Amino acid sequence: MIKDKLKRPLHDLRISVTDRCNFRCQYCMPAEIFGPDFKFLTQDEILSFEEIERLSRIFSKLGVKKLRITGGEPLMRKNVASLITMLNQIEGIEDIGLTTNGVLLQKQSQPLYDAGLRRLNISLDALDNQIFQKMNGRGVKSEIVLKGIETALKTGFSIKVNMVVQKGVNDSQIIPMAKHFKEMGVTLRFIEFMDVGNTNGWNWDQVVTKKEIYDSLSKHFKLEPVDSNYYGEVAKRYKYENSETEIGFITSVSESFCSTCTRARISANGNFYTCLFSSKGHDLKTIVRSNHDDEQILKIISDIWEKRDDRYSDERVIGSLSSTKKIEMSYIGG
Ligand code: GTP
Ligand code: 5AD
Ligand code: SF4
Ligand code: SF4
Repeated sequence: MIKDKLKRPLHDLRISVTDRCNFRCQYCMPAEIFGPDFKFLTQDEILSFEEIERLSRIFSKLGVKKLRITGGEPLMRKNVASLITMLNQIEGIEDIGLTTNGVLLQKQSQPLYDAGLRRLNISLDALDNQIFQKMNGRGVKSEIVLKGIETALKTGFSIKVNMVVQKGVNDSQIIPMAKHFKEMGVTLRFIEFMDVGNTNGWNWDQVVTKKEIYDSLSKHFKLEPVDSNYYGEVAKRYKYENSETEIGFITSVSESFCSTCTRARISANGNFYTCLFSSKGHDLKTIVRSNHDDEQILKIISDIWEKRDDRYSDERVIGSLSSTKKIEMSYIGG
């Protein structure tokens, strides 16, 4: 098993299949920047499903057991279900998940399930439409996402809902969201607003920390901590008293989790990133499109991992960051 410089194994691979999205969340793809003239990647620039499958197979030989399909919005890529079918056949892959905004789920839930996908993380930042429509930048109502969630539950998916909390924007929705998903028996995870990319105008004043969220939840619910499922789990988990329903917190700002970070990322155009906040990736597309064999590619990837010493969020917490240009979230999928 390969380890990086901080002794972290390579366990998860997050694969972005498109840089496009049907939302324009202010914190991720602000409409002023991602407007009609924005140049998205062309068909030829993005990895084909065969290239993704080949790279995933190589990554699995290095220890990757868990794959996550992301975007942009992954369901905007044609026929993602067929990619799932291909990835499902890779020996050593134990778990495949997909992160989506849920808009296209009413149509795609069944084909994804039939392809063997079982886990979906669905983003929803508010129930209130005034808030949600503004946040998603496309005027989409929360009912559309809720219907997607309902469809996916009926199909048989295991689902977690992700809510990015921004002070003064949707913090009023913490309790209504918690009540709603508690009643539905669906896990809701609160995500601290992060300084990803260069365009979302992040500052500390807009972060609502886990502690603040926990304190407001405690006024309404009794929560009990739940042990983490596995080494390097991103969310801190709790459950409601006398219930099996869980909630979670993703605390990358207030309590970073770099020391157990086992995640590699590939952008839609085939760059390999060893951190969500990397400024530069390693071009794997050119390599898969040249005449390297699998062994050679495996060696290139393992050399990169063995040199890895990223711990951006830890450095943010201790205040030792230098300002660098970062990769955009929509390009790398969170
Ligand atoms: P599972 O645990 O497999 O369900 O998935 P996940 O929680 O890792 O995936 P998801 O795509 O739902 O991510 C939820 C949030 O966690 C997103 O906002 C991600 O950007 C954030 N996140 C995931 N991995 C990392 C990481 O390595 N570093 C940081 N800072 N944030 C991460
Ligand atoms: N901070 C925290 N989470 C973010 N996401 C996108 N941008 C940010 C940000 N700036 C979340 C999405 C989705 C997940 C993949 O990443 O809402 O749930
Ligand atoms: Fe799209 Fe997700 Fe980014 Fe929102 S956060 S713009 S839904 S990729
Ligand atoms: Fe991993 Fe980088 Fe996130 Fe730290 S900031 S947990 S190293 S991806």
